[in-house]
Amino acid sequence: MTLHQRLLNLRDEIRRHDRLYYVEASPEISDQEYDRLLAELIEIESKHPEWVTPDSPSQRVGGEPLEGFAQVRHAIPMLSIGNTYSLEELREFEERLGRILPNTAFDYVVEPKIDGVAVSVIYENDLFTLGATRGNGAVGDDITANLRTIRGLPLSLSIARHGLQRFELRGEVFMDHAGFEALNRRRAEAGEELYANPRNTTAGSLKLLDPRQVAERPLRIAFHSFGEIVPLPGSAPPWRRHSEILRALQEMGVPTVEHWDRATGIDQVIPLVEAWESKRFDLPYVTDGLVIKVDDLRTREDLGSTSRSPRWVIAYKFPAEQAETTLKSIELQVGRTGAVTPVAILDPVQLGGTTVSRATLHNADEIARKDLRVGDRVLVEKGGEIIPKVIAALPEIRDGSQVPFVFPSKCPSCGGPLSRPQGEVAYRCEDLNCPAQLRRRIEHFASRRGMDIEGLGEALIDQLVSTGLVRTLPDLYRLELEQVANLERMGRKSAQNLLDGLEKSKSNPPNRLLHGIGIRFVGEHVAEVLMDQVEDLRDLGKRTREELEAIPEIGPTVSESIHTFFSDDRNREVLDELATLGLNFRRTESGIPEGEPPPRNLEGLQFVLTGTLAKHTRDEAKELIQARGGRVTGSVSKKTDYVICGTDPGSKADKAESLGVRILNEEEFEDLLAGVL
Ligand code: IVH
Repeated sequence: MTLHQRLLNLRDEIRRHDRLYYVEASPEISDQEYDRLLAELIEIESKHPEWVTPDSPSQRVGGEPLEGFAQVRHAIPMLSIGNTYSLEELREFEERLGRILPNTAFDYVVEPKIDGVAVSVIYENDLFTLGATRGNGAVGDDITANLRTIRGLPLSLSIARHGLQRFELRGEVFMDHAGFEALNRRRAEAGEELYANPRNTTAGSLKLLDPRQVAERPLRIAFHSFGEIVPLPGSAPPWRRHSEILRALQEMGVPTVEHWDRATGIDQVIPLVEAWESKRFDLPYVTDGLVIKVDDLRTREDLGSTSRSPRWVIAYKFPAEQAETTLKSIELQVGRTGAVTPVAILDPVQLGGTTVSRATLHNADEIARKDLRVGDRVLVEKGGEIIPKVIAALPEIRDGSQVPFVFPSKCPSCGGPLSRPQGEVAYRCEDLNCPAQLRRRIEHFASRRGMDIEGLGEALIDQLVSTGLVRTLPDLYRLELEQVANLERMGRKSAQNLLDGLEKSKSNPPNRLLHGIGIRFVGEHVAEVLMDQVEDLRDLGKRTREELEAIPEIGPTVSESIHTFFSDDRNREVLDELATLGLNFRRTESGIPEGEPPPRNLEGLQFVLTGTLAKHTRDEAKELIQARGGRVTGSVSKKTDYVICGTDPGSKADKAESLGVRILNEEEFEDLLAGVL
């Protein structure tokens, strides 16, 4: 056999195994054997790049990362479908059809509704050429490179044989139970946060810009409908019914919805619906309903569409599954932003095809409202989410041993105090060192609008935290070159970059530091306002809430948050440590050029900036105004004196106009700064 012949055989073999695995669900070889075939193919192609074809299985491993997704306009809009929740509504659906086409016997196809992400896939001249998300229905993202990595998706398809030049298929990308669970197992082993449900994880995967990462996700695809069909010259579209298309697709080796049934009249549909209520749990993926479609394509055309959905199709949504079990205990979980969520620990119970042993309880009020007590028998329900909810307690079967739940006062992650800001439902941990929040805090601290630390990105933060090198914000400034250089994928050069970035950040003005620390409700602007009032950042802790609220623009929400923050001794310690490490806590007259201070000719005036200025960034313009005594706010009101309008102004310019606020262009703004306007 020639090498080229071997290559062709390998391709056929791999395609056959893809089909056996993803379309027929009866694999013949192990993953390792499959990987060996693919490796051999890639090896041959790397020696003979001239033999590579766009539909070779080697093309699935993922190309170069993209900068962003191009936009694709759908030739035929991707509409949504109407929902029904009862058999009664299904009958009404057929009555509506009967009013449009009286005396018609409607043939239907009934299919499971896959809880995935809708995509459009175009084959042209027998090749997969374009894949797109639904987007807003009219325009979606071009995700061709990501879809190519999905093994079940044929990269070529003999559509010419069916008289077609172009064929647009529509379907769902999804993760099956096994794939999703394996993915979460890998994450658990790596100490990473688990994904909440297969649908959102699928949507997130398709949005990744690096197809190599997408290739690692256990994505599957199944087609259930079609868009544009363009016959070859001289041919006519070959199918008259939806069920014929599904059958033809299956014969071509295209993954479709696994089961479908045909029915005449809604009376035949109803027993199918009833059968699926339990059968759906045997499916290997999440389904939240059935889709009932008119089979005959001509009839579909006669029925037409509303602007939102075709009239010939309806979804029937299954009621959420419920089960009864015992509430064993209530655990607290600390989220990445410090919000503390109570979680029910349950006696394991079968629900919606999986074993459930945890359920979300949302917040303390919910527990009180439902009067849930540890030891209660409770009803749990599973909707679209993997995480079920506790719906209610069954108080009639209490025996007196059940205990009401008292919300703990300490954070389960760090032992810091929990507080519940007025008007909010969640308890929070505001402790700067709380490990549950650390990554997120550092990300914010290092961000461009925070301390702007060059070289400190998400991946490096992950490494620093997971290796334990950084347990608190001050630890960042204690990092040593060797420690950083020894991390995986780091070298001395990037380690030095990080240390330089950290060093540079020490001299940032204290309002940047205040924003970077991440006290709730203290954003960029509030940090500036606050730092205008004190010499040293830590002086804020000495102000009473009333004193804080006396500051213009500072209301009770901010004052409460600052107060809570400074009442935690450990937060004050962190600030002292940062000061000792050389960070700048003291207000300087930053933004004002060396030498003569500018005149205070804008004292008391209020400005809003919109659009892009040619000569200054937003921040610079702001500093120029502030240095002259003016104030810059985010939105236009009657109190605004001037709106400075650059190119491409936003709605703020319109608002200014409607309120009669004076608008200045860039030139006039320069004149105003110079005191000549
Ligand atoms: S037919 C005009 N069949 O559900 C839309 N859709 O909630 C024709 N879906 O956007 C779609 N399984 O992405 C159809 N067997 C199935 C489906 C299905 C899932 C999705 C589809 C649609 C969404 C509407």
